[in-house]
Amino acid sequence: MSCKMAAAVLFSRLHCKVFLLLFLCSGASLFIGVDSRSFTIDYDSNSFSKDGQPFRYISGSMHYSRVPSYYWRDRLSKMYYAGLNAVQTYVPWNFHEPFPGVYNFEGDHDLVGFLKTAQDVGLLVILRAGPYICGEWEMGGFPSWTLRNQPPPTLRSSDPSYLSLVDAWMGKLLPLVKPLLYENGGPIITVQVENEYGSFYTCDQKYMNHLESTFRQYLGPNVVLFTTDGAGDGYLKCGTIPSLYATVDFGATDNPEGYFAFQRKYEPKGPLVNSEFYTGWLDHWGQAHQTRNGDQIASSLDKILALNASVNMYMFEGGTNFGFWNGANCGGQSYQPQPTSYDYDAPLNERGEMTDKFGLLRSVIKKYHPVPSIPPIESDVSVYGDKSGHIYYDEYADLFESLKVLGTKQTTADRPLTFEDMEQDFGFILYTPVDDITLSSSDQVTLTIDELHDRATIYWNRQLVGTLLRSAGLTKNMSVSFNATSSKGSLAILVENMGRVNYGSYIADKKGILNGVYLNGVEVLHWTTTSLPLNNTNELQFTQVGSTTPPTSAVFYKASFTIDGSTLNDTYLLTDQWTKGVAIVNDFNLGRYWPVKGPQKTLYVPASVLKKGTNGVVLFEVDSAPNKGSTQFVDKPDLGLSVTRAFEAEVRW
Ligand SMILES: *[C@@H]1O[C@H](CO)[C@@H](O)[C@H](O)[C@H]1NC(C)=O
Ligand SMILES: *[C@@H]1O[C@H](CO)[C@@H](O)[C@H](O)[C@H]1NC(C)=O
Ligand SMILES: *[C@@H]1O[C@H](CO)[C@@H](O)[C@H](O)[C@H]1NC(C)=O
Ligand SMILES: *[C@@H]1O[C@H](CO)[C@@H](O)[C@H](O)[C@H]1NC(C)=O
Repeated sequence: MSCKMAAAVLFSRLHCKVFLLLFLCSGASLFIGVDSRSFTIDYDSNSFSKDGQPFRYISGSMHYSRVPSYYWRDRLSKMYYAGLNAVQTYVPWNFHEPFPGVYNFEGDHDLVGFLKTAQDVGLLVILRAGPYICGEWEMGGFPSWTLRNQPPPTLRSSDPSYLSLVDAWMGKLLPLVKPLLYENGGPIITVQVENEYGSFYTCDQKYMNHLESTFRQYLGPNVVLFTTDGAGDGYLKCGTIPSLYATVDFGATDNPEGYFAFQRKYEPKGPLVNSEFYTGWLDHWGQAHQTRNGDQIASSLDKILALNASVNMYMFEGGTNFGFWNGANCGGQSYQPQPTSYDYDAPLNERGEMTDKFGLLRSVIKKYHPVPSIPPIESDVSVYGDKSGHIYYDEYADLFESLKVLGTKQTTADRPLTFEDMEQDFGFILYTPVDDITLSSSDQVTLTIDELHDRATIYWNRQLVGTLLRSAGLTKNMSVSFNATSSKGSLAILVENMGRVNYGSYIADKKGILNGVYLNGVEVLHWTTTSLPLNNTNELQFTQVGSTTPPTSAVFYKASFTIDGSTLNDTYLLTDQWTKGVAIVNDFNLGRYWPVKGPQKTLYVPASVLKKGTNGVVLFEVDSAPNKGSTQFVDKPDLGLSVTRAFEAEVRW
């Protein structure tokens, strides 16, 4: 690669020295080439070494999968203005391989484009290549089709049936990123193998060794490969192997030395690295919005930088779990899906605005390294719809009347089939017994679902009669009682995949009804299972509200609005009249809304999904639609009531 590229990356550090190099370089381009680019660990000076000079990175996390590609440059530039010299990102496997052997690296999935943009704005890259990423992302990045094999592979282990899937994926991914390694003229300085493996029960060193040799095979002998684990013996013990450089993660603390001491047990020499220094925290549906105090984070960052450590701030730009990409945390006694916003209380908010925290952290960085000045940045929010931002939902389509259009697959079997049986990753499944149900004398009915993943709305003669929500890793026999309005009628159960578990021992998280359904203790057999991935709602046939009485549940409502004016701006959609469902703007799935559960009330609408002229919003309401409903566009996010937890060192999943 050319000298120019080397100089551009050096320039990004904004050392005065760099200007010199730039001149030197342009005058001597024939002499300084690829060979001059090196990135290694200098064990003797407890530092990284870049082009033979001591180097430390000050990095921030941004996941390209959570920001539309339209905004990558905007977010990355702002990270550069904060004084960062690197960006850290995960590569979510399931974002790139929707079907076995079918890859998507286009548009918002254009990993190489993202890496090149980072380099172009002056950032190096720390690549967390997986295969497992956690990250509050659907199934920790694993494609759910890995669960379809029988028997399912033991994930994150040396089980040969798992390794063969991983090898095929790495054989695709790693050759793609190899030309972008620092030594080859690209921005990637280090590559992480697996993620916080020491937190997982398998503790299989053969697996880690296998990954290490696979990464080496494709990326060559020079690139720095590393692991990340919680700063504690319990995590590092199973997460590290000698041939991978061990790093740790921890949040704001008075005493970073105490946490780095754990890294030192495994790496007596070499750079101190905190791979996830928490700027905020993640949310769960039904819990308060998490925020973290900026002053405490800034003062802790100061202490970390004073130790000459390298640090990555997790997150610097959180972004959004658009569509169905959120994951869930799950223990034996809990199932906690994450909401649509991944704002994370990060220094750049969900739509990339610089917050007060951004300024605080930039001031700390400035004590150690020169930071660029911030140019004027235009980033407007608009309120669309009528004067107060309202749009009105005057068209609807009943789910039960739309199955022919929306059902991508329909299968009849004795028992309800899972999402995996249906080869469906996301969305909803409708379960309907083939035959009408005849009840005995009692009109009080108890319906029981054995292993519901994750949430069901239950209909008797198309009337909503109850809901059930998974509450644990395994949910044996959850029941709901209702009064049937007639002794003979139709039963339907709509099940939502709320997000596959991304952390803990339940990551092999199948969806749908995993076992049987019982009415008053008697199993119901002979079911039709209909796949509703909701990826084809543009084919729905809508009816004007008014001609007939619209249903209030399992219904699609549509509103239209017009945008005139030259520039398209971001906005937020407030759905507070609605109960639970999914919002789709111009065929782009914004994600789930659930304002009654909270904490988040607004959905981020990036300008990139809007267009001049007529725009449409479709809400799929599964619980209870308002009468003559509307939503409101607003100019500020409402992520719910927040709690700011005290100063503490958090060891994250
Ligand atoms: C940090 O690096 C500088 C320059 O190499 C050195 O003088 C200083 O002692 C180092 N500080 C620590 C805490 O290691
Ligand atoms: C929708 O998802 C199903 C899998 O559930 C897939 O077969 C189909 O091709 C997808 N359709 C579109 C339009 O993406
Ligand atoms: C069913 O009806 C009875 C009698 O009207 C009432 O007491 C009971 O609360 C109802 N149960 C449910 C689940 O609605
Ligand atoms: C976007 O914001 C700019 C600046 O406030 C404004 O001039 C423009 O009209 C807005 N665009 C729309 C479509 O509202």
